[in-house]
Amino acid sequence: MPLIKTTAMFKKAHEGGFAIGAFNVNNMEIVQGITTAAAELNSPVILQCSAGARKYANSRYLVHLVRAALEVNDIPIALHLDHGPDYATCKSCIDDGFTSVMFDGSHYSFEENIAKTKEVVEYAHAHNVVVEAELGQLAGVEDDVSVDADKAHYTKPEEVVEFVSKTGCDSLAIAIGTSHGAFKFTPEQCTRNPETGVLEPPELRFDILAEIEKQIPGFPIVLHGASSVAPEYVKIINDNGGKLSDAVGIPEAQLRKAAKSAVCKINIDSDLRLAMTAGIREHFMAHPEHFDPRQYLAPGRNYITELVKHKIREVLGSEGSAPGIMALVNEY
Ligand code: G3H
Ligand code: 13P
Ligand code: ZN
Repeated sequence: MPLIKTTAMFKKAHEGGFAIGAFNVNNMEIVQGITTAAAELNSPVILQCSAGARKYANSRYLVHLVRAALEVNDIPIALHLDHGPDYATCKSCIDDGFTSVMFDGSHYSFEENIAKTKEVVEYAHAHNVVVEAELGQLAGVEDDVSVDADKAHYTKPEEVVEFVSKTGCDSLAIAIGTSHGAFKFTPEQCTRNPETGVLEPPELRFDILAEIEKQIPGFPIVLHGASSVAPEYVKIINDNGGKLSDAVGIPEAQLRKAAKSAVCKINIDSDLRLAMTAGIREHFMAHPEHFDPRQYLAPGRNYITELVKHKIREVLGSEGSAPGIMALVNEY
């Protein structure tokens, strides 16, 4: 089956009260780790590449790695550009065979964001590619650009109808309190659970999400910065020579709640990084004599597979939804 757009995925996700996982890929082991999990659970998946990933791996390698994953696994896969910074990058991905691109104009003024997003939409739609846009601004680090928490701002529900209708975008990333990276909240913003010792962050703004849903009923919403930063992985890393303190993510129960709503796409990158690092560090501590990359990359890849299976079952709820999406794909 060819790479598909996200349209049928989002339709089924919305109807079924689940979300599609959008996982960042940078190399072969990450692509394999994710798609093995999705295939085992008969789940669709979005594989996304940032501009940084394209620079690191070369976009052509990433496209072919994802195409290889499609040959090996019989599941619906979309190839998406994550945080496209400009028209040229979006165009280059569309020309490269991506089926979906994000234009991230969230740091522009409302009017500029509309104008620039619209330009991308026109080129993308003319080439049968869908576009994710962003309104509101998340805190955190992406592609080495750091957005301070005080510059981040929630999406304004009163702006979404005008934005979606004027841009013609196909899905909308919103800001309701998630942020990028493994350090989403400072310890001061969190409360420490006295029983587990785990830092618990403030609730996402589900009131804003509900208001947005009311404004654009049925329109696919995207949640960025949605890693949970599971303490188990942080502990493995720290127990094996790593040094990560006060890493905090979004609690899984909140993401599950979001997945049941109009949120159709949930972005996860930091959790993949933590899982892979945990597998590799653990391996090196146990086998300091090893130097064959296959020996230490395989456990990293296995941890990614375990992580993605857990996400599909406990967070996204997309297990078993692949056949329904494949049946719908010819309509879009
Ligand atoms: O949102 C950003 C993603 O985690 C991608 O990160 O730009 O370092 O590849 P990156
Ligand atoms: P995390 O850093 O929470 O994994 O977010 C990833 C993301 O939003 C990619 O666009
Ligand atoms: Zn993001």
